[in-house]
Amino acid sequence: MKTKLAINGGEKTIQGDQGRFIWPELTERTKQRVLEQLAESISIYNRSGVIERLEDSLKDYHGVKHALLTNSGTSALHSMFVGENFGEGDEVLVPGYTFYATVTPLLFTNATPVLVDCDDNGNMCPSDLESKITKKSKGVIVTHMWGVPAQMKAISEIAQNNNLLLMEDGSHAHGATLNGKKVGSFGHSSAFSMQGQKTLTGGEGGFLLTDEDEVFYRALMLGHYNKRCKQEIPADHPLSIHSVTGMGLKFRIHPIAAAIAEEQLDNLDGILRGRREIAQYMINSLSGLPGLKLPRFEDSIKPSWYAFTIGYESDELGGLSRERFFEAVQAEGLMEVDIPGSTCPLNYHSLFQNPSRIFPKYDEKIKYVRGDLPNAERFHSRLLKLPVWHSEGHLKKVDLYIKGITKVIENHREINKNG
Ligand SMILES: Cc1ncc(COP(=O)(O)O)c(C=O)c1O
Repeated sequence: MKTKLAINGGEKTIQGDQGRFIWPELTERTKQRVLEQLAESISIYNRSGVIERLEDSLKDYHGVKHALLTNSGTSALHSMFVGENFGEGDEVLVPGYTFYATVTPLLFTNATPVLVDCDDNGNMCPSDLESKITKKSKGVIVTHMWGVPAQMKAISEIAQNNNLLLMEDGSHAHGATLNGKKVGSFGHSSAFSMQGQKTLTGGEGGFLLTDEDEVFYRALMLGHYNKRCKQEIPADHPLSIHSVTGMGLKFRIHPIAAAIAEEQLDNLDGILRGRREIAQYMINSLSGLPGLKLPRFEDSIKPSWYAFTIGYESDELGGLSRERFFEAVQAEGLMEVDIPGSTCPLNYHSLFQNPSRIFPKYDEKIKYVRGDLPNAERFHSRLLKLPVWHSEGHLKKVDLYIKGITKVIENHREINKNG
């Protein structure tokens, strides 16, 4: 069907704000919890109140021994790397494609990150991982990118065979499962963000999960000095003499953030169910259109649908570039269609090309250039993403996005390729 595209002066598919994705869902219940927390306490020094309840719920949800709340995902990752006791001379294999904070806290331990290329889902590629292991390798961390569980069977085996500590960054993948097992419970330790966009959020916040007492104690030392260290690290433990000062950083979550996250956790499984249905509806509605490689997974994989990722195939649309396609869908008012910017192959960041100005100690150790991660660079260069709504009430918006994308694809020949 020929219809004048908005980029050529036609009518927009979505007018004004109609297509906005509003996240998180803050209900009367959330507001009530915040008010209760305000009345109860806005600074909690020890493991009590909302901190204790939320840590217990996170342990139960993931089936692990320890959960430690932090003020951000970045702090949770920092706590994990210090918890695992990485140091000078150690190499840690990290995803070459992830949000940079999966890796940057490692730079405070003096260990060297080694970038590993990705598979077709943007997750760590097991064979590239294997090829980058050296005698210095001590650990490996995966990110479950955009909510899709990484290849944990192969990666766990490689980690085991090579004595690597396996860690996970689950920040995109709260509640995602692989063969029924939750992301965050595969590794020696895992870290999650609860920043405002995340599927489980407190506005800001994060948490560390581990079965290992030593990782937990060291993480307490790093960011939870005095009360928590005194009360939770056994008096006969060698670290306990430092309980008052710990290692001197403070990573406590704000109790209001914890209260919001506690309320959100109650809804998490319902939201995930709703997202799965809508993601399937989007796949069914968009399949058959040229130019879009849609997400498809085996039944064993249940993503969190943090994002609906599309691989844009320019060849199938007469060579129309992804950027011009993006401009055309944005012109239609589909403002939630996104090309990620700062979440990109890490070798694109100056920090991983030449860190000498801010981390002189890494001068000779971190020297990546464009071209070093061909799969990640290809994945990133074709990526378009959408949020995934979760309730029937959102279907009208979803239909508008499907209509707008279909309109642009059906009329792509009308778009001036050069802008
Ligand atoms: C994969 C990943 N890791 C780590 C982080 C850092 O979390 P935070 O922003 O809570 O510090 C983020 C946040 O965007 C993320 O997406």
